Parts: sequence; C-alpha cells; structure tokens
Amino acid sequence: MATITASVYTSHVPAIGAAIDLGKTHEPYWAPMFAGYDPSRRWLKEHMPDVVFLVYNDHANAFSLDLIPTFAIGTAASFAIADEGWGPRPVPAVAGHPELASHIAQSVIQDDFDLTIVNRMDVDHGLTVPLSLMCGQPEAWPFRVIPFAVNVVQYPVPSGRRCFQLGQAIARAVASYDEPLEVQVWGTGGMSHQLQGPRAGLINREFDNAFLDRLIADPAGLAAMPHIDYVREAGSEGIELVMWLIARGAMADTAGGKAPRVAHRFYHVPASNTAVGHLILENPR
Ligand code: DHB
Ligand code: FE
Repeated sequence: MATITASVYTSHVPAIGAAIDLGKTHEPYWAPMFAGYDPSRRWLKEHMPDVVFLVYNDHANAFSLDLIPTFAIGTAASFAIADEGWGPRPVPAVAGHPELASHIAQSVIQDDFDLTIVNRMDVDHGLTVPLSLMCGQPEAWPFRVIPFAVNVVQYPVPSGRRCFQLGQAIARAVASYDEPLEVQVWGTGGMSHQLQGPRAGLINREFDNAFLDRLIADPAGLAAMPHIDYVREAGSEGIELVMWLIARGAMADTAGGKAPRVAHRFYHVPASNTAVGHLILENPR
C-alpha cells in the first residue's frame, strides 16, 4: 500500500524563484530567508519520497477567467514549466505519476469531491518555487509530482473546511493504492500578503504564527475559520493558506492516528511583499 509519510508547507513567492535563478541567494536581503530552508533540504535527503502530491494555485497561467476549476488534478506524465511573461524558469520539467493520480481521482470523486482532470498543464511559480526551496537546483527533480491546483484567485474560493475534508479523502485514496510508494503531501502559498489595493504590503505576523500553531495542534478547529477572516487578517492573497489545510487533512491524526512530529518550523519577513512561512510535519512510523 502507498503511505503518506509527511507533509510540507511553504510559501511560493515568485521573487524567491528569481533570486535562485539569478544567483542572488547569498545577498544580504535573501540569505536569512534561504537559511531557513537549509534544514529542510537536509531533511528531504533523509526522507526522500517517491511521489509528492503538490497542492498549489495557478496564477492565471494554465487557467484564465475562461475556465476556473476549483480543484484540478494533473494526471499527465509530464508538465512543462509555464512562461509567466519573462520566459519559463530554468528548472527541470516536472515528471508526473499518471497511475497514482488517476487512482486518486477515481477514489476522491467517488468519495464525493468534484475534481477537474487535467491531462495537459504548464506549472507556474506556485509549484516550482516550493520545489526549488526544498530540492535546490538539481538536473532533474528527485521524485515524481502530482500537481493539484486549487482556485484561490477568483471568487468563489473553496472553504477551509472543504479543503481539510478533501485532504482526508486524499489520504484514503493514497492508502488504497496497491503499490508501496512513499508519498508526501505539500501545501503551498501564503502566508499573509496583499498585492493589490489600499492595503497592499499587508503583513500580519501575529496571525501567521497563530495559524502555524493551530495548523499543528488544532487543524479541525482552524478549518472552521471562514474565508473572510483570511482576507481580513492575512490580506487578499493570504487566502492561499486554505491550501495548507488540504495537506494537513491528509495527515494520520485526522483519521484517528497519532499526532504528527514537527520536524521543522520557520517564519521570515519579508520576501518581496510577502511573509514566508514553512513547516514540516512527519507521520509517526
Ligand atoms: C507574490 C506573488 C504571489 O503569487 C505570491 O503568492 C506571493 C507574492 C509577489 O508578486 O510578490
Ligand atoms: Fe501566489
């Protein structure tokens, strides 16, 4: 059977990708931010999964106002890197896992969650920046990736509760896959940030750190928080944080298992206009 071994949570600020691609990670502005991910790259080497189920949001690159899937699962064998206006990032293409992705789609849809199945999709900074932060700059990504895109860009967006329950359904799907794969679920985006309007530049450290505390210790309670609280407290783009609840819902304790172990926690302000948050949770063996 496939097993979910851990979940990883991280912001996906596009400027982080540019800092890596342009060799700026040692500059004084960036060094403290990247230092927070040194333990994560070491951790990943010791806990290398076969597949990462990577929850992220597309930023009007693969989708547009023409087509707005709430939840979209990438079932292709490979995914090209999106050109976001200045050429694709110079990172490896993403190898998918069509068999596991199709199994998850089958299981989760029969479990009453409506997914859009995507057989061709370019992936943007929402997916590639977390990969770069965790893996550095390899020739090829060291595991296969199932991209899972959530609409947090155009209202209406899904509730935290729905995301949490979907994570639980994804865990049931993985547990019923008949091959001994080690799977991690990554939740990306956030933390507090607002890129538009009179409150542009908003950062809320208190909210972000309380979110991390509750994500660890009270995820079901946190999942009840209404979307308006995200917007009010974490800014218009802070709503990306609902995606972290999908990864958290996939952990063993939400189905009666043991509480996860906190392998790493990091918080840093600023990166571009955004608060960077990061957490690694392990399921007990
Ligand atoms: C920025 C863009 C994002 O998509 C995001 O999640 C955070 C920051 C930015 O342009 O700074
Ligand atoms: Fe974003």
